[in-house]
Amino acid sequence: MSNTDPKRYTITSALPYANGPLHIGHLAGAYIPGDTFVRFLRLNGKDVVYVCGSDEHGAAITIKAKQLGITPQAIIDRFHAQIRDSFEEFGIAFDIYHRTSEQIHHALSQEFFLNLYEKGEFIEKYSEQYYDEEFHQFLADRYITGTCPHCKNEGAYGDQCEKCGTSLNPTDLINPISTLSGKPPVLKETKHWYLPLDKYQPWLEEWLIRGKKNILKSNVYGQCLSWLKAGLQPRSMTRDLDWGVDVPLEEAAGKKLYVWLDAPIGYISATKQWAEDTGNDWKKYWKRQEDPSEDSCLIHFIGKDNIVFHCIIFPAILHAHGEYILPENVPANEFLNLEGDKLSTSRNHAVWLHEYLEEFPGKQDELRYVLTSILPETSDSEFTWKDFQARVNNELVAILGNFVNRVLVLSEKYFDGRVMEATRLDAEEEQVFAELAAYPEQIAHSIRNYRFREALAQLMNVARLGNKYLADAEPWKLIKTDAERVKTVLNAGLQIAANLAVMAQPFLPYTAEKIFNMLQLQDRGWDQAGKPDLLRPGHQLGT
Ligand code: MF3
Ligand code: ZN
Repeated sequence: MSNTDPKRYTITSALPYANGPLHIGHLAGAYIPGDTFVRFLRLNGKDVVYVCGSDEHGAAITIKAKQLGITPQAIIDRFHAQIRDSFEEFGIAFDIYHRTSEQIHHALSQEFFLNLYEKGEFIEKYSEQYYDEEFHQFLADRYITGTCPHCKNEGAYGDQCEKCGTSLNPTDLINPISTLSGKPPVLKETKHWYLPLDKYQPWLEEWLIRGKKNILKSNVYGQCLSWLKAGLQPRSMTRDLDWGVDVPLEEAAGKKLYVWLDAPIGYISATKQWAEDTGNDWKKYWKRQEDPSEDSCLIHFIGKDNIVFHCIIFPAILHAHGEYILPENVPANEFLNLEGDKLSTSRNHAVWLHEYLEEFPGKQDELRYVLTSILPETSDSEFTWKDFQARVNNELVAILGNFVNRVLVLSEKYFDGRVMEATRLDAEEEQVFAELAAYPEQIAHSIRNYRFREALAQLMNVARLGNKYLADAEPWKLIKTDAERVKTVLNAGLQIAANLAVMAQPFLPYTAEKIFNMLQLQDRGWDQAGKPDLLRPGHQLGT
């Protein structure tokens, strides 16, 4: 993040496809980091809008509908509701969770297309595409299967071979078959509108290489660089599809806007809807302001499969339009694997969020804790149940839970749950308070640089600090020899617990709330973190 202090933030997390439930890989990729960042900004009193929604178009949806033998509308209604509920239950604090099937979204996507069209930004090109003669339709890449030219896998798709990972064009497949009719498709000419990314290459190089080299994470910057090095090609912004936003041209009847001009516009249409609902001005969060220092700071949280999309294609679209701000940063994560294998919706290899919630009701923060600890921030990482159990028991419970519990139980036992006055601050307290005071800035620094694992580890160090302080002071022994001193020790312990609640808020919202409740303390903003006097003497604690 740059050093200037923006007035306003526009934060997005990738629009998930409404073709299935959410799993832990989704959370670890784009939603836990986004939510943690947003909670942190809000605790700092920033003006933030955090938007997301379901991506309800594209072949992912129609293929799922076909598999289940129901309409695309039935698919998106079902999964949109399920996804929205899972996000809510895990405390992902969007201002709005919208959906791309809404009229406001269709209208805005079409407006974007027409804006670029009228400026003459598109190149119109004819090409040959596979067509199913029996079903009378052009075939989306995913609707065509065949043999991979690289590894000879017979079940490769028109966009990718899942066996060897190569991305393909449908015409690369040997013996292509339409999944609709089961017959070989024929090539037929069709017209599409392309965004000339090659034309924007010099501008993109300037913006990315000159402007973002030290801002983007190295995994993100590296991918951008290799795309630029390979040379950008025009990309088709339209498709022959039967489900999506209509291309708003008479001659394009039956054609739809492709994902590039659809899904990310969903960030903007969601903001528009939110602004309409709440009486805000969406333009302040998306459009360039007369005074550039008034521009909102746009940050996209995504997984690595969407890097080119958010660092090259969408910025080129926003740039071509001209009225919009550009992303300040795109802190993409790598992938999370599960028990030694890739997570996969289609192969049903996943920990589904709705199932987790059924099996571990009320344990959202346990998963948030473990996933934050292992976020694939710089390289792929791995979730295993054994590791989950170890981290919950040996860290969350044994360090954080144990500390808060001990200090509350001792306060109850010796002082009827009252905060005593710290009558004698010794060197131990001065030391512990000095260490405590340094944490808010350390944690903030890690969060601002999208190092959430490091930030969470520092939070746990606050709990460790508390545990060590208690273990050294031994109030359970002191109570027999120097009861007066125990007042100070428990006061200090409770102040650390209160600080833990304040600083846990971005990561563990449910736990933070629980600790605030136990302490009978109002939640506090980040500016209160690090203070040794969050609890006043005489204050009555909860149970
Ligand atoms: N739904 C798509 C995906 O999951 C696109 C998400 S990125 C967005 O890959 F910009 F479109 F939201
Ligand atoms: Zn292959």
